[in-house]
Amino acid sequence: MTDYASPLRLFQPRQFDYGSGSAAQVGLWAKIEGFRRILVVTQPVMAGLIDRLGLPGQVEVFSGVQPEPDSDNLATAVAAAVQAKPDLVVGFGGGSVMDVAKLITVLRGSQTLADVIGPHRVAGRQNALALVPTTAGTGSEAGIRALVTDASSLNKVAVESRYLMPDMVALDPDLTMSVPAVVTAATGIDAMAHCVEAFTNRKAHPLIDNYARLGFGLVARYLPRAVRDGSDTEARAALLLAAYYGGICLGPVNTAAGHALAYPLGTRLKLAHGLANAVIFPHVLAFNQPVAGAKTAEIASALGLRHDSESALREDAARWCADLGVEMRLSRLGALSEHLPGWAAEAHSIRRLMDNNPRDMSVDQVLDIYRAAF
Ligand SMILES: NC(=O)c1ccc[n+]([C@@H]2O[C@H](COP(=O)([O-])OP(=O)(O)OC[C@H]3O[C@@H](n4cnc5c(N)ncnc54)[C@H](O)[C@@H]3O)[C@@H](O)[C@H]2O)c1
Ligand SMILES: [Fe+2]
Repeated sequence: MTDYASPLRLFQPRQFDYGSGSAAQVGLWAKIEGFRRILVVTQPVMAGLIDRLGLPGQVEVFSGVQPEPDSDNLATAVAAAVQAKPDLVVGFGGGSVMDVAKLITVLRGSQTLADVIGPHRVAGRQNALALVPTTAGTGSEAGIRALVTDASSLNKVAVESRYLMPDMVALDPDLTMSVPAVVTAATGIDAMAHCVEAFTNRKAHPLIDNYARLGFGLVARYLPRAVRDGSDTEARAALLLAAYYGGICLGPVNTAAGHALAYPLGTRLKLAHGLANAVIFPHVLAFNQPVAGAKTAEIASALGLRHDSESALREDAARWCADLGVEMRLSRLGALSEHLPGWAAEAHSIRRLMDNNPRDMSVDQVLDIYRAAF
Protein backbone atom coordinates (compact mmCIF):
# COMPACT_ATOMS: atom_id res chain seq x y z
CA MET A 1 0.00 0.00 0.00
CA THR A 2 1.17 3.51 -0.74
CA ASP A 3 0.07 6.77 0.86
CA TYR A 4 1.05 10.41 0.43
CA ALA A 5 4.26 9.75 2.37
CA SER A 6 5.42 7.07 -0.10
CA PRO A 7 8.38 8.21 -2.20
CA LEU A 8 7.73 8.98 -5.85
CA ARG A 9 9.75 10.59 -8.66
CA LEU A 10 8.32 12.54 -11.58
CA PHE A 11 10.16 13.96 -14.56
CA GLN A 12 8.75 17.04 -16.28
CA PRO A 13 9.70 19.01 -19.39
CA ARG A 14 11.47 22.32 -18.72
CA GLN A 15 8.93 24.24 -20.77
CA PHE A 16 5.27 23.40 -21.31
CA ASP A 17 3.03 25.42 -23.62
CA TYR A 18 -0.67 24.83 -23.84
CA GLY A 19 -3.63 26.05 -25.83
CA SER A 20 -4.67 27.12 -29.28
CA GLY A 21 -1.68 28.33 -31.33
CA SER A 22 0.92 27.08 -28.85
CA ALA A 23 2.80 25.17 -31.58
CA ALA A 24 4.44 28.49 -32.52
CA GLN A 25 6.10 28.56 -29.10
CA VAL A 26 8.38 25.73 -30.22
CA GLY A 27 10.10 28.00 -32.73
CA LEU A 28 10.37 30.88 -30.25
CA TRP A 29 11.86 28.54 -27.67
CA ALA A 30 14.30 27.08 -30.21
CA LYS A 31 15.43 30.62 -31.07
CA ILE A 32 16.02 31.51 -27.42
CA GLU A 33 17.94 28.28 -26.90
CA GLY A 34 20.05 29.00 -29.97
CA PHE A 35 19.33 25.81 -31.92
CA ARG A 36 20.52 25.99 -35.53
CA ARG A 37 20.06 22.53 -36.99
CA ILE A 38 16.61 21.10 -36.49
CA LEU A 39 15.24 17.73 -37.54
CA VAL A 40 11.46 17.40 -37.58
CA VAL A 41 10.29 13.80 -37.26
CA THR A 42 6.78 13.36 -38.60
CA GLN A 43 4.45 11.68 -41.11
CA PRO A 44 3.12 12.87 -44.48
CA VAL A 45 -0.31 13.63 -42.98
CA MET A 46 1.27 16.32 -40.76
CA ALA A 47 3.99 17.58 -43.10
CA GLY A 48 1.82 20.46 -44.34
CA LEU A 49 1.48 21.88 -40.83
CA ILE A 50 5.19 22.09 -39.95
CA ASP A 51 5.11 25.86 -40.61
CA ARG A 52 2.95 26.24 -37.52
CA LEU A 53 6.04 25.48 -35.43
CA GLY A 54 7.81 28.61 -36.71
CA LEU A 55 11.21 26.91 -36.55
CA PRO A 56 14.41 28.95 -37.02
CA GLY A 57 17.65 27.92 -38.70
CA GLN A 58 18.22 24.96 -40.97
CA VAL A 59 15.23 22.62 -40.84
CA GLU A 60 15.24 19.08 -42.20
CA VAL A 61 12.23 16.80 -42.21
CA PHE A 62 12.05 13.04 -41.79
CA SER A 63 8.47 12.06 -42.59
CA GLY A 64 8.97 8.30 -42.86
CA VAL A 65 7.63 7.16 -39.47
CA GLN A 66 5.18 4.29 -39.88
CA PRO A 67 2.17 3.92 -37.62
CA GLU A 68 3.13 1.58 -34.75
CA PRO A 69 6.77 1.65 -35.86
CA ASP A 70 9.05 -1.36 -35.73
CA SER A 71 12.79 -1.58 -35.14
CA ASP A 72 13.56 -1.49 -38.89
CA ASN A 73 11.61 1.73 -39.28
CA LEU A 74 13.42 3.14 -36.25
CA ALA A 75 16.78 2.25 -37.82
CA THR A 76 15.88 4.27 -40.93
CA ALA A 77 14.99 7.25 -38.76
CA VAL A 78 18.22 6.96 -36.77
CA ALA A 79 20.18 6.89 -40.04
CA ALA A 80 18.43 10.11 -41.11
CA ALA A 81 19.39 11.72 -37.80
CA VAL A 82 23.00 10.58 -38.06
CA GLN A 83 23.16 12.37 -41.43
CA ALA A 84 21.31 15.50 -40.37
CA LYS A 85 23.31 15.96 -37.11
CA PRO A 86 20.57 18.07 -35.49
CA ASP A 87 21.01 19.96 -32.25
CA LEU A 88 17.23 19.76 -31.81
CA VAL A 89 14.80 16.98 -32.77
CA VAL A 90 11.11 17.89 -32.89
CA GLY A 91 8.66 14.98 -32.75
CA PHE A 92 5.55 16.23 -34.54
CA GLY A 93 2.84 13.57 -34.64
CA GLY A 94 1.06 10.90 -32.63
CA GLY A 95 2.64 8.40 -30.27
CA SER A 96 4.30 6.55 -33.14
CA VAL A 97 6.20 9.67 -34.22
CA MET A 98 7.00 10.90 -30.72
CA ASP A 99 8.45 7.55 -29.64
CA VAL A 100 10.72 7.46 -32.71
CA ALA A 101 11.81 11.07 -32.04
CA LYS A 102 12.64 10.15 -28.45
CA LEU A 103 14.68 7.11 -29.46
CA ILE A 104 16.60 8.96 -32.17
CA THR A 105 17.72 11.35 -29.48
CA VAL A 106 19.50 8.59 -27.56
CA LEU A 107 20.52 6.26 -30.41
CA ARG A 108 22.57 8.60 -32.59
CA GLY A 109 25.68 7.75 -30.58
CA SER A 110 27.21 4.35 -29.91
CA GLN A 111 24.24 2.59 -28.27
CA THR A 112 21.89 0.36 -30.26
CA LEU A 113 18.24 -0.39 -29.54
CA ALA A 114 19.23 -3.76 -28.03
CA ASP A 115 21.56 -1.94 -25.64
CA VAL A 116 18.83 0.25 -24.17
CA ILE A 117 15.70 -1.95 -23.91
CA GLY A 118 14.32 -1.99 -20.37
CA PRO A 119 14.68 0.51 -17.57
CA HIS A 120 17.60 2.93 -17.11
CA ARG A 121 20.06 1.58 -19.67
CA VAL A 122 20.40 4.72 -21.80
CA ALA A 123 23.82 6.34 -21.38
CA GLY A 124 22.93 9.84 -22.57
CA ARG A 125 21.39 11.91 -25.33
CA GLN A 126 22.80 13.52 -28.44
CA ASN A 127 20.41 16.45 -29.01
CA ALA A 128 17.63 18.46 -27.38
CA LEU A 129 14.08 17.23 -27.80
CA ALA A 130 10.72 18.96 -28.28
CA LEU A 131 7.50 16.97 -28.62
CA VAL A 132 4.29 18.24 -30.18
CA PRO A 133 1.50 15.66 -30.13
CA THR A 134 -1.02 15.65 -32.96
CA THR A 135 -3.23 12.94 -31.48
CA ALA A 136 -4.67 13.03 -27.95
CA GLY A 137 -3.91 9.56 -26.67
CA THR A 138 -0.54 8.17 -25.69
CA GLY A 139 0.76 11.01 -23.53
CA SER A 140 4.21 9.97 -24.74
CA GLU A 141 5.20 13.66 -24.51
CA ALA A 142 4.77 13.50 -20.73
CA GLY A 143 6.73 10.34 -20.15
CA ILE A 144 10.11 8.69 -20.03
CA ARG A 145 9.21 5.62 -22.13
CA ALA A 146 9.28 4.86 -25.82
CA LEU A 147 7.89 1.74 -27.49
CA VAL A 148 8.63 0.04 -30.78
CA THR A 149 7.88 -3.41 -32.16
CA ASP A 150 10.85 -5.75 -32.50
CA ALA A 151 10.75 -6.61 -36.22
CA SER A 152 11.87 -10.20 -35.73
CA SER A 153 9.96 -11.31 -32.61
CA LEU A 154 6.97 -8.95 -33.11
CA ASN A 155 7.11 -8.13 -29.39
CA LYS A 156 6.62 -4.55 -28.25
CA VAL A 157 9.79 -3.47 -26.52
CA ALA A 158 9.93 -0.56 -24.09
CA VAL A 159 12.84 1.73 -23.36
CA GLU A 160 12.63 3.71 -20.14
CA SER A 161 15.04 6.48 -19.30
CA ARG A 162 15.19 9.99 -17.90
CA TYR A 163 16.94 10.91 -21.18
CA LEU A 164 13.67 10.32 -23.05
CA MET A 165 11.98 13.22 -21.26
CA PRO A 166 11.51 16.10 -23.71
CA ASP A 167 12.91 19.54 -22.94
CA MET A 168 9.87 21.27 -24.35
CA VAL A 169 6.25 20.28 -25.00
CA ALA A 170 3.50 22.17 -26.79
CA LEU A 171 -0.11 20.95 -26.63
CA ASP A 172 -1.94 22.76 -29.43
CA PRO A 173 -5.53 21.67 -30.11
CA ASP A 174 -5.43 23.25 -33.59
CA LEU A 175 -3.15 20.39 -34.66
CA THR A 176 -5.58 17.66 -33.66
CA MET A 177 -8.64 18.97 -35.53
CA SER A 178 -7.93 16.76 -38.53
CA VAL A 179 -7.82 13.50 -36.56
CA PRO A 180 -10.66 11.33 -37.94
CA ALA A 181 -13.51 10.49 -35.55
CA VAL A 182 -12.57 6.81 -35.21
CA VAL A 183 -8.95 7.68 -34.38
CA THR A 184 -10.14 10.38 -31.97
CA ALA A 185 -12.29 7.81 -30.19
CA ALA A 186 -9.63 5.11 -30.01
CA THR A 187 -6.80 7.41 -28.92
CA GLY A 188 -9.08 9.06 -26.34
CA ILE A 189 -9.90 5.66 -24.86
CA ASP A 190 -6.15 4.90 -24.76
CA ALA A 191 -5.63 8.07 -22.69
CA MET A 192 -8.42 7.00 -20.38
CA ALA A 193 -6.96 3.48 -20.12
CA HIS A 194 -3.62 4.94 -18.98
CA CYS A 195 -5.40 6.83 -16.20
CA VAL A 196 -7.66 3.93 -15.22
CA GLU A 197 -4.91 1.29 -15.23
CA ALA A 198 -2.62 3.49 -13.12
CA PHE A 199 -5.51 4.37 -10.76
CA THR A 200 -6.38 0.74 -9.99
CA ASN A 201 -2.75 -0.41 -10.17
CA ARG A 202 -0.91 -2.40 -7.52
CA LYS A 203 1.66 0.42 -7.55
CA ALA A 204 -0.97 3.19 -7.42
CA HIS A 205 0.12 6.33 -5.56
CA PRO A 206 -2.22 9.08 -4.29
CA LEU A 207 -0.26 11.80 -6.10
CA ILE A 208 -0.76 9.94 -9.39
CA ASP A 209 -4.37 9.06 -8.51
CA ASN A 210 -5.16 12.77 -8.61
CA TYR A 211 -3.84 13.11 -12.16
CA ALA A 212 -5.70 9.92 -13.09
CA ARG A 213 -9.01 11.32 -11.79
CA LEU A 214 -8.50 14.52 -13.76
CA GLY A 215 -7.62 12.51 -16.85
CA PHE A 216 -10.53 10.09 -16.96
CA GLY A 217 -12.87 12.88 -15.90
CA LEU A 218 -11.82 14.97 -18.91
CA VAL A 219 -12.16 12.00 -21.29
CA ALA A 220 -15.62 11.22 -19.91
CA ARG A 221 -16.75 14.79 -20.46
CA TYR A 222 -15.01 15.77 -23.70
CA LEU A 223 -14.40 12.65 -25.80
CA PRO A 224 -18.04 12.31 -26.92
CA ARG A 225 -17.96 16.02 -27.87
CA ALA A 226 -14.76 15.73 -29.93
CA VAL A 227 -16.03 12.61 -31.71
CA ARG A 228 -19.30 14.36 -32.56
CA ASP A 229 -17.61 17.54 -33.75
CA GLY A 230 -13.92 17.32 -34.60
CA SER A 231 -13.64 21.10 -34.85
CA ASP A 232 -14.62 21.62 -31.19
CA THR A 233 -11.41 23.34 -30.06
CA GLU A 234 -12.21 23.23 -26.38
CA ALA A 235 -12.90 19.49 -26.46
CA ARG A 236 -9.70 18.89 -28.45
CA ALA A 237 -7.68 20.92 -25.95
CA ALA A 238 -9.23 19.12 -22.97
CA LEU A 239 -8.37 15.75 -24.53
CA LEU A 240 -4.75 16.77 -25.09
CA LEU A 241 -4.60 17.57 -21.40
CA ALA A 242 -6.23 14.25 -20.50
CA ALA A 243 -3.62 12.44 -22.60
CA TYR A 244 -0.87 14.44 -20.90
CA TYR A 245 -2.20 13.47 -17.46
CA GLY A 246 -2.33 9.88 -18.65
CA GLY A 247 1.32 10.19 -19.65
CA ILE A 248 2.17 11.41 -16.15
CA CYS A 249 0.39 8.34 -14.77
CA LEU A 250 2.55 6.07 -16.94
CA GLY A 251 5.87 7.31 -15.56
CA PRO A 252 6.01 6.14 -11.96
CA VAL A 253 3.04 3.73 -12.01
CA ASN A 254 2.35 2.52 -15.59
CA THR A 255 -0.43 0.38 -17.02
CA ALA A 256 -1.46 -3.17 -16.15
CA ALA A 257 -3.44 -6.07 -17.66
CA GLY A 258 -5.41 -3.88 -20.07
CA HIS A 259 -2.34 -2.87 -22.02
CA ALA A 260 -0.78 -6.34 -21.73
CA LEU A 261 -3.85 -7.89 -23.36
CA ALA A 262 -3.92 -5.15 -26.00
CA TYR A 263 -0.33 -5.72 -27.13
CA PRO A 264 -0.81 -8.95 -29.11
CA LEU A 265 -3.78 -7.29 -30.84
CA GLY A 266 -1.43 -4.54 -31.97
CA THR A 267 1.59 -6.58 -32.94
CA ARG A 268 -0.18 -9.70 -34.34
CA LEU A 269 -3.57 -8.46 -35.54
CA LYS A 270 -2.15 -5.02 -36.43
CA LEU A 271 -4.86 -3.07 -34.65
CA ALA A 272 -3.94 0.54 -33.86
CA HIS A 273 -2.82 0.92 -30.26
CA GLY A 274 -5.88 2.91 -29.18
CA LEU A 275 -8.32 0.52 -30.84
CA ALA A 276 -6.64 -2.53 -29.26
CA ASN A 277 -6.97 -0.90 -25.85
CA ALA A 278 -10.58 0.09 -26.42
CA VAL A 279 -11.57 -3.51 -27.23
CA ILE A 280 -10.00 -4.77 -24.00
CA PHE A 281 -10.96 -1.87 -21.71
CA PRO A 282 -14.50 -2.95 -20.57
CA HIS A 283 -13.35 -6.48 -19.80
CA VAL A 284 -10.38 -5.61 -17.61
CA LEU A 285 -12.34 -2.83 -15.87
CA ALA A 286 -15.01 -5.38 -14.92
CA PHE A 287 -12.48 -8.12 -14.08
CA ASN A 288 -10.73 -5.85 -11.58
CA GLN A 289 -13.92 -4.59 -9.93
CA PRO A 290 -14.00 -7.27 -7.17
CA VAL A 291 -10.63 -6.13 -5.81
CA ALA A 292 -10.85 -2.42 -6.68
CA GLY A 293 -14.48 -1.67 -5.87
CA ALA A 294 -14.22 1.92 -4.61
CA LYS A 295 -11.93 3.12 -7.39
CA THR A 296 -13.91 1.29 -10.06
CA ALA A 297 -17.04 3.01 -8.73
CA GLU A 298 -15.33 6.40 -9.18
CA ILE A 299 -14.45 5.55 -12.79
CA ALA A 300 -17.93 4.23 -13.51
CA SER A 301 -19.56 7.32 -12.02
CA ALA A 302 -17.41 9.62 -14.14
CA LEU A 303 -18.44 7.71 -17.28
CA GLY A 304 -22.06 7.24 -16.21
CA LEU A 305 -21.86 3.42 -16.15
CA ARG A 306 -23.84 1.00 -13.99
CA HIS A 307 -21.52 -0.77 -11.59
CA ASP A 308 -23.80 -2.82 -9.38
CA SER A 309 -22.51 -6.00 -11.02
CA GLU A 310 -19.51 -7.08 -13.06
CA SER A 311 -21.70 -7.87 -16.06
CA ALA A 312 -23.59 -4.54 -15.97
CA LEU A 313 -20.29 -2.68 -15.76
CA ARG A 314 -18.79 -4.63 -18.66
CA GLU A 315 -21.88 -4.13 -20.78
CA ASP A 316 -22.14 -0.38 -20.12
CA ALA A 317 -18.41 0.21 -20.64
CA ALA A 318 -18.55 -1.64 -23.97
CA ARG A 319 -21.60 0.38 -25.00
CA TRP A 320 -19.87 3.62 -24.00
CA CYS A 321 -17.01 2.79 -26.38
CA ALA A 322 -19.28 1.46 -29.14
CA ASP A 323 -21.37 4.65 -28.98
CA LEU A 324 -18.21 6.52 -29.96
CA GLY A 325 -18.13 4.46 -33.14
CA VAL A 326 -15.49 1.96 -32.03
CA GLU A 327 -15.83 -1.59 -33.35
CA MET A 328 -15.55 -3.62 -30.16
CA ARG A 329 -15.73 -7.20 -31.51
CA LEU A 330 -12.46 -8.94 -32.27
CA SER A 331 -14.23 -11.20 -34.78
CA ARG A 332 -15.19 -8.10 -36.80
CA LEU A 333 -11.63 -6.83 -36.60
CA GLY A 334 -10.13 -9.83 -38.36
CA ALA A 335 -9.33 -12.14 -35.45
CA LEU A 336 -9.87 -15.90 -35.79
CA SER A 337 -10.80 -17.98 -32.76
CA GLU A 338 -7.71 -20.18 -33.23
CA HIS A 339 -5.53 -17.08 -32.68
CA LEU A 340 -6.80 -16.53 -29.15
CA PRO A 341 -4.87 -19.17 -27.12
CA GLY A 342 -1.51 -18.04 -28.51
CA TRP A 343 -2.30 -14.39 -27.80
CA ALA A 344 -3.42 -15.32 -24.29
CA ALA A 345 -0.11 -17.04 -23.54
CA GLU A 346 1.78 -14.08 -24.96
CA ALA A 347 -0.20 -11.44 -23.04
CA HIS A 348 0.11 -13.43 -19.83
CA SER A 349 3.90 -13.48 -20.22
CA ILE A 350 4.16 -9.64 -20.30
CA ARG A 351 4.97 -9.65 -16.60
CA ARG A 352 6.18 -6.03 -16.47
CA LEU A 353 2.51 -5.05 -16.90
CA MET A 354 0.58 -8.11 -15.67
CA ASP A 355 2.31 -7.93 -12.30
CA ASN A 356 0.87 -4.42 -11.87
CA ASN A 357 -2.71 -5.64 -12.16
CA PRO A 358 -4.64 -5.44 -8.88
CA ARG A 359 -6.18 -8.89 -9.45
CA ASP A 360 -4.10 -11.87 -10.59
CA MET A 361 -5.13 -13.08 -14.03
CA SER A 362 -4.39 -16.63 -15.16
CA VAL A 363 -3.78 -17.59 -18.79
CA ASP A 364 -7.28 -19.10 -18.86
CA GLN A 365 -8.78 -15.86 -17.59
CA VAL A 366 -6.92 -13.92 -20.30
CA LEU A 367 -8.36 -16.36 -22.83
CA ASP A 368 -11.85 -15.89 -21.35
CA ILE A 369 -11.50 -12.14 -21.91
CA TYR A 370 -10.38 -12.57 -25.52
CA ARG A 371 -13.33 -14.95 -26.07
CA ALA A 372 -15.75 -12.47 -24.49
CA ALA A 373 -14.38 -9.71 -26.73
CA PHE A 374 -14.59 -11.96 -29.78
N1 LIG B 1 5.65 6.32 -25.02
C1 LIG B 1 4.59 5.95 -24.39
O1 LIG B 1 4.51 6.11 -23.19
C2 LIG B 1 3.46 5.34 -25.14
C3 LIG B 1 2.23 5.15 -24.50
C4 LIG B 1 1.20 4.58 -25.23
C5 LIG B 1 1.39 4.22 -26.55
N2 LIG B 1 2.59 4.40 -27.14
C6 LIG B 1 2.84 4.03 -28.54
O2 LIG B 1 2.31 5.05 -29.38
C7 LIG B 1 1.91 4.49 -30.62
C8 LIG B 1 0.48 4.87 -30.94
O3 LIG B 1 0.33 6.26 -30.99
P1 LIG B 1 -1.07 6.94 -31.41
O4 LIG B 1 -2.17 6.19 -30.77
O5 LIG B 1 -0.95 8.37 -31.17
O6 LIG B 1 -1.19 6.60 -32.94
P2 LIG B 1 -0.31 7.04 -34.20
O7 LIG B 1 0.77 7.95 -33.82
O8 LIG B 1 0.07 5.79 -34.91
O9 LIG B 1 -1.39 7.85 -35.04
C9 LIG B 1 -2.61 7.23 -35.43
C10 LIG B 1 -2.99 7.61 -36.85
O10 LIG B 1 -3.37 8.98 -36.88
C11 LIG B 1 -2.64 9.69 -37.88
N3 LIG B 1 -2.53 11.07 -37.42
C12 LIG B 1 -1.71 11.56 -36.43
N4 LIG B 1 -1.95 12.87 -36.23
C13 LIG B 1 -2.95 13.21 -37.09
C14 LIG B 1 -3.64 14.43 -37.35
N5 LIG B 1 -3.40 15.53 -36.63
N6 LIG B 1 -4.58 14.43 -38.31
C15 LIG B 1 -4.88 13.30 -39.00
N7 LIG B 1 -4.27 12.12 -38.79
C16 LIG B 1 -3.31 12.07 -37.84
C17 LIG B 1 -1.34 8.93 -38.00
O11 LIG B 1 -0.73 9.13 -39.24
C18 LIG B 1 -1.80 7.49 -37.82
O12 LIG B 1 -2.27 6.95 -39.02
C19 LIG B 1 2.10 2.99 -30.49
O13 LIG B 1 3.30 2.59 -31.11
C20 LIG B 1 2.16 2.78 -28.99
O14 LIG B 1 2.88 1.64 -28.61
C21 LIG B 1 3.61 4.98 -26.46
FE1 LIG C 1 -1.55 3.14 -24.37
